[in-house]
Amino acid sequence: MVNFQAVLDNIADEVRPLTTQGKVADYIPMLARVPADKFGMAVATLDGGIYRVGDAEEHFSIQSISKVYTLTLALKAIGDALWERVGREPSGSAFNSLVQLESERGIPRNPLINAGAHVVADVLIGQGLDARAQLLDFVRRRSDDPSVGDDPEVAHSESLTGFRNRALANFLKSFGNLDHEVEAVLDFYFYQCSLTMSCADLARGFLFLANRGICPWTGEPVLTPSQAKRIGALMLTCGTYDAAGDFAYAVGIPAKSGVGGGIVGIIPNQLAVAVWSPALNAKGNSLAGTAALELFTTQTGMSVF
Ligand code: DON
Repeated sequence: MVNFQAVLDNIADEVRPLTTQGKVADYIPMLARVPADKFGMAVATLDGGIYRVGDAEEHFSIQSISKVYTLTLALKAIGDALWERVGREPSGSAFNSLVQLESERGIPRNPLINAGAHVVADVLIGQGLDARAQLLDFVRRRSDDPSVGDDPEVAHSESLTGFRNRALANFLKSFGNLDHEVEAVLDFYFYQCSLTMSCADLARGFLFLANRGICPWTGEPVLTPSQAKRIGALMLTCGTYDAAGDFAYAVGIPAKSGVGGGIVGIIPNQLAVAVWSPALNAKGNSLAGTAALELFTTQTGMSVF
């Protein structure tokens, strides 16, 4: 039996010096104010265990990690029809790159890059419900924490500087791959990026993906086992953008990162693990967070390989 608490304590000591080596995202001004020396990590196990270290209970901006939640909701809503509008290949490009979208005629490579998430957002706002409220309620239920929230200042700041997202969404619209107006899609997209929650919330909140789609404490089937398998596969191949190969090599688990410095990963049938350290590496993934997850899989001997 792994002593998760001892592993987390050890990792925190080891990676703390790395927390100031990357660069906190500043292209969204409201993200730039987060101190680089924050570090938190949490593990949630399928048997109900939760282990924390550092700032594991502090809320932060989950940014692109939200793309896994929205993908989950879109698959629940329309199933495999989603794949008529978005692909499942790693992009090998930055998360906000415009190039492929033009040459591939408005079909984003995958749902975990920005353009793919815009298509997913378009699906969700077309379901005839209050998409924002539905997403927030879903994320709260997955984490079992009603304090999961959103940060309107971050969403507004991102909208003011969202030139590339506007360009991507306009490309999608020009190719007929958005049903709704560009600004309506972006409004929801900026909202999802502004969700705030803690490492402990994220670790609990991804357990259903480690549990064949079933929420471990309620028994609710959130996704079918097959859908959960497919989301795990997409996280492994596309969840850390153009660093996905290096990340899989170093860490060895499906994971999703965000420019707020969070990364959450799953080990099927065992656990979910989340880390937060705001300073990013050149590919936009948390520098100390990536190192912490590599240490975690190495020290516990647990991965998908
Ligand atoms: O679209 C954006 O620029 C951000 N709100 C989300 C990007 C993000 O988190 C990508 N992550 N690594």
